[in-house]
Amino acid sequence: MKIHKKIALITGANRGIGKNILTTLIKKNIYVIGTSKTSIGVKNIKNLVKNNGTGILINFLKKKKYEDNFKKILKKFKKIDILIHNSGITHDNLLINMTEKEWKNVIKINLSSCFYLTKIFLPNMIKKKWGRIIFISSVNAYQGQIGQTNYSASKSGVIGFLKSLALEVASFGITVNSIAPGYIKTDMTKKFFKNLPKYINKIPLKNFGKTTDISNVILFLISKKTSYITGQTIHVNGGLFMI
Ligand SMILES: NC(=O)c1ccc[n+]([C@@H]2O[C@H](COP(=O)([O-])OP(=O)(O)OC[C@H]3O[C@@H](n4cnc5c(N)ncnc54)[C@H](OP(=O)(O)O)[C@@H]3O)[C@@H](O)[C@H]2O)c1
Repeated sequence: MKIHKKIALITGANRGIGKNILTTLIKKNIYVIGTSKTSIGVKNIKNLVKNNGTGILINFLKKKKYEDNFKKILKKFKKIDILIHNSGITHDNLLINMTEKEWKNVIKINLSSCFYLTKIFLPNMIKKKWGRIIFISSVNAYQGQIGQTNYSASKSGVIGFLKSLALEVASFGITVNSIAPGYIKTDMTKKFFKNLPKYINKIPLKNFGKTTDISNVILFLISKKTSYITGQTIHVNGGLFMI
């Protein structure tokens, strides 16, 4: 299948931040391929995007299967112009109680996936001498969080990964950046809603962020006008943390 407009691949696009990125890019006339780890999620994505894109089943805990599915996508569409790796999980526990499974699963989904996923789509971007790669990191990569040694390690790993990658591919017209959200209203932060004032008090802008706050930065980073920005992380956290 040959598609003439830009094609974006967005991981974790069935809900939360990823879903908003998906719908935002459609409005910009970009063909979107969204991933979900469940068949029902893939169906939801397909219903949502209609002729403007498609959905695929990707579970970052099943490496062989997800690599095969990504390779099929590349074979079918010939290219991915914009790669947005948004899938992510938390599995909080104090280090003293953290199981090896809690450690490994968070690292696999949030960090190792960056390596395997990028390796599949990068050669074609290099060949075309154009590409935009964006990872979703977290404020907790920078400030740490009790119970999140696994999550903070994975999300700061993303920062190191993208900086080195940005250096390796800059001469091919490919930019690599990340967005580090603070508290954004999604399923991931649902557990904080019942005690909202406690969290909001710590945020200078006195509110949780919206998924559109992240999508707006995605639009900024893929714009022609920002093609001189690479190796950077944009912080979207209401002033919760400043570097
Ligand atoms: N919300 C926040 O406040 C916040 C703050 C900082 C960083 N972030 C980061 O932002 C990103 C999006 O988070 P969100 O708030 O939108 O979270 P969310 O609503 O919980 O969504 C998580 C996404 O990750 C996908 N996912 C989970 N396990 C997966 C697996 N095994 N394989 C593939 N995909 C998997 C989910 O896919 P399914 O729908 O198919 O389950 C879902 O689309 C994450 O990387 C998160 O760490 C969020």
